[in-house]
Amino acid sequence: MQTFLLNSGEKLPQVGFGTFNLKGEVCETALLRAFEVGYRLIDTANVYMNERAVGRGIARSGIPREEILVTSKLWPIQFPYKKATRAIDETLSRLGLDYIDLMLLHKPYGDVKGAYHALEEAVENGKVRMIGVSNFIEEDLEKLLPACTHKPVLDQIEISPCFYRKSLCDYLISRNILPQSWCPLGSGDKKLLSDPVVAEAANNHHKTPAQIVLRWHLECGYLAIPGTKSPTHVRENIDIFDFSLTDSEREALSNLPRGKSVFPMKRGIERYAVYFQRMNYNRQT
Ligand SMILES: NC(=O)c1ccc[n+]([C@@H]2O[C@H](COP(=O)([O-])OP(=O)(O)OC[C@H]3O[C@@H](n4cnc5c(N)ncnc54)[C@H](OP(=O)(O)O)[C@@H]3O)[C@@H](O)[C@H]2O)c1
Repeated sequence: MQTFLLNSGEKLPQVGFGTFNLKGEVCETALLRAFEVGYRLIDTANVYMNERAVGRGIARSGIPREEILVTSKLWPIQFPYKKATRAIDETLSRLGLDYIDLMLLHKPYGDVKGAYHALEEAVENGKVRMIGVSNFIEEDLEKLLPACTHKPVLDQIEISPCFYRKSLCDYLISRNILPQSWCPLGSGDKKLLSDPVVAEAANNHHKTPAQIVLRWHLECGYLAIPGTKSPTHVRENIDIFDFSLTDSEREALSNLPRGKSVFPMKRGIERYAVYFQRMNYNRQT
């Protein structure tokens, strides 16, 4: 597995495994399969309600802890400094780990600076190794960066050829913050995976449409974290290191018509607060 170099000097694998929508036993089994075929970067979040299952999968894998990289995320309602500090400890306890490799602020709402400060303290205390953000756009980062001691290593944002914000990606790269692509396959968007541009490249390289799209991410310099329950897809999504797109194929993928966001951003903390109150992260199985 090839890696991306982060602004902290650390490296991350160029493809990770997303666990949104995977719960309980299904999550554990999918994770074990992912480890078996070579994934080492795992993406979860407090709000996915599967951190216990992710922790069990890691424990059952038998892979040395230092070879696995776990990302989790704090939800905006936990952002006030004190709540964030507690939420980091609760995340560690649900995952059954001594440290989290990468902890992100899930959305740019609420007391972002308070939460970020709690994450920086967790780095000092050895509970978190690296800090990142998610769904932050240029203006959110311009407010946050002057207040940071530990710069965010990445910004996990929606990126796919059918939802491509190139200027935001270029901005991140100019700030030496790695763009990480959530919903890299447009959440399995059939229109994207059957697009003639994608199909032609798939045909040229004897690869599947999903492999073409994932290769596009990594050649653009974006770390993709596709999710899947399928044993075939999990293998396929990591088998993208033995070919390269031509410049014109990459260009054509970058210029596909832009569709809708998979999860359109709702501005405002209130909506997220309501969502949070329906969930009790510590009650997950
Ligand atoms: N930070 C955020 O706000 C945020 C938001 C959303 C997601 N995420 C993260 O991003 C990860 C990925 O997002 P996602 O899982 O929603 O979307 P995705 O990776 O774009 O797509 C997943 C969908 O594509 C299908 N799929 C996967 N591999 C395939 C292949 N090789 N061929 C055809 N279909 C394939 C899957 O179905 P099968 O199960 O049938 O393969 C599933 O329906 C999440 O798991 C989560 O970790 C973060």
